[in-house]
Amino acid sequence: MPDSPARQNAPANLPVNRDGGGTDHPHTMRLQRFLARAGVASRRGSENLMTAGRVTVNGRVATELGCKVDVDHDVVEVDGRRVRLADGAVYLLLNKPGGYLTTMSDPEGRRCVADLVPCDRYPGLFPVGRLDYDTTGVLLFTTDGDLAQALLHPSRHVEKRYIALVDGRMHDVELELLREGIVLDDGPCKPARCRILSSAVAQDIWGDRVPRGTTCVSVVLSEGRKNQVKRMLGAVGHPVLRLHRESFGPIRLDGTPEGSWRLLYDEEVLELKRAASRMEGPLNAYAR
Ligand code: URA
Repeated sequence: MPDSPARQNAPANLPVNRDGGGTDHPHTMRLQRFLARAGVASRRGSENLMTAGRVTVNGRVATELGCKVDVDHDVVEVDGRRVRLADGAVYLLLNKPGGYLTTMSDPEGRRCVADLVPCDRYPGLFPVGRLDYDTTGVLLFTTDGDLAQALLHPSRHVEKRYIALVDGRMHDVELELLREGIVLDDGPCKPARCRILSSAVAQDIWGDRVPRGTTCVSVVLSEGRKNQVKRMLGAVGHPVLRLHRESFGPIRLDGTPEGSWRLLYDEEVLELKRAASRMEGPLNAYAR
């Protein structure tokens, strides 16, 4: 399982060390275990961080693998950034690779995104919406059902930015149709922001897997209908060859490698809640 990089926040919805795994007091635990619980890295990865001298406890470098921390009082930092175990919901993002179903289990045993995120560490984790089997990029996970529901509700208009590689040379006149709002078989689409991007952007995302005679296009949607980007671009005569989600609301990959996950920063969680609170009609919990 991929490690997440060191994080300032440490959402962990797990009770602290009630499972008898290596501590002798409910509020103390081995430092490497603390770091792993906080989502900084795996236990082994955390040990490597410690021996590399990157971890401090109360300002002192902690390289001794057996050392313990007081979860409630000690100040643990990795590369100078505070790491905490917090009660409450977990928020993380996965840079989804192609070839994975967006589901937490598959009765037919096909590869699914649950294989790529730390479900054991964070019970109750689920994906916010879905990406197609072959779509790559930002897929959020949380244990916070209310926030997930708010983010996906059409009234909140949370924007998702996709980069598509389409067949054929696309022109502005076709994009104009999407900007006006085309009609699909399940109803009219809201006007979409879209523009043609340079082939360098496509190469950044897909490397040398970018065939000639294709166009790279950015599409920003605030809806989330099934296969919407593929159907919209197909409807204007340009079937999608590859699709990548660059952002979900304010959340971007921010260097997370394909197939890896990372916990969201505290500020990102706040921004996400703010985005989920922008709505028509009465305010909800996320708008207060
Ligand atoms: N639109 C699509 O067509 N596919 C996705 O995976 C996401 C948006």
